Amino acid sequence: MKDNLERIKEESSDAIKKVQTLKQLDDIRVRYLGKKGELTLLLREMGKLNPTERPIIGQMANDIRNGINKRIEEATINLKKKDLELRLQHESIDVTIPGKRKKIGNKHPLTKVLDEVIQIFIGMGFSVAEGPEIETVYYNFDALNHSETHPARDMQDTFYITEDILLRSSTSPNQVRIMEKQGPPIRVIVPGKVFRSDQIDATHSPMFHQIEGLVVDKGITMANLKGTLEVFAKMFYGEKTKTKFRPHNFPFTEPSAEMDCTCSSCNGSGCHICKDTGWIEILGSGMVHPNVLANCGIDPEIYSGFAFGMGLDRIALLKYDISDLRLMFENDKRFLMQF
Ligand code: DAH
Repeated sequence: MKDNLERIKEESSDAIKKVQTLKQLDDIRVRYLGKKGELTLLLREMGKLNPTERPIIGQMANDIRNGINKRIEEATINLKKKDLELRLQHESIDVTIPGKRKKIGNKHPLTKVLDEVIQIFIGMGFSVAEGPEIETVYYNFDALNHSETHPARDMQDTFYITEDILLRSSTSPNQVRIMEKQGPPIRVIVPGKVFRSDQIDATHSPMFHQIEGLVVDKGITMANLKGTLEVFAKMFYGEKTKTKFRPHNFPFTEPSAEMDCTCSSCNGSGCHICKDTGWIEILGSGMVHPNVLANCGIDPEIYSGFAFGMGLDRIALLKYDISDLRLMFENDKRFLMQF
């Protein structure tokens, strides 16, 4: 029996030393100390010993059991420590590794061009305002000095909601809204959507975008109009850009003019973008008509002003050499991701 105890002591001690996992350790515990464990079974046979041997062997068996328990306990602590170290090594975070970039969208080409235009005018002291897309006939036509029979009023051209309410056909009604509300001095641009009853094709859409501009103060002349719009053209299209004003007619300005710029693509020598003319038309403009000033409660004898309206979509198409306006509104990511 004594030999058996010695063997158990040595074998268990060796086994515990070699142990790699907590599971193996538990198996060892069961093998020696479990209900049917080797040491347990041996202790059950103590009764067979003679009374002189019994206490000595009993003491020895107890010591061995305590020893095994102690070694298992130590090994458990060691294994857990090793396990933790391993996990820490494994799971250590390298804070210098670049993070995973989230894919964020990019700005729509129209937004990009609008931002650029806004920055240029802010640089010249303009502020930016907005107005309603659903307008009254008064703001859209009457106050802007359109005659009763002006063709733009036609149902064929304008989306009427009722007889008096419509989808604004330009951003110009904001001239009136701002003059009424604010009074001079005024230096403002108003970007926004406008609506016309047009068939959709490569250059037309029933919804498009304009940027209105308005300056009203004492002593404003055509020179201010030309100077401001020339600065804009040079900043937007480049220093070499030339401008040209052609007489035109708008009900709400007098005199009126359209402004052309030398084509930024060919510098005026002629290409497919400017249809070989060397010039591209970018806006309508003029001195605010005295009737419009008066309609807004501003005395045309004291104040004068100039206004302009440009097509944002058109400018963007030309700038990026996009051949079809429809691409702007189709939300095709393959198109939008190019900007
Ligand atoms: N409202 C005009 C249009 O939609 C554009 C325009 C022309 C605006 C002359 C103006 C202007 O402010 O002075 O065609």
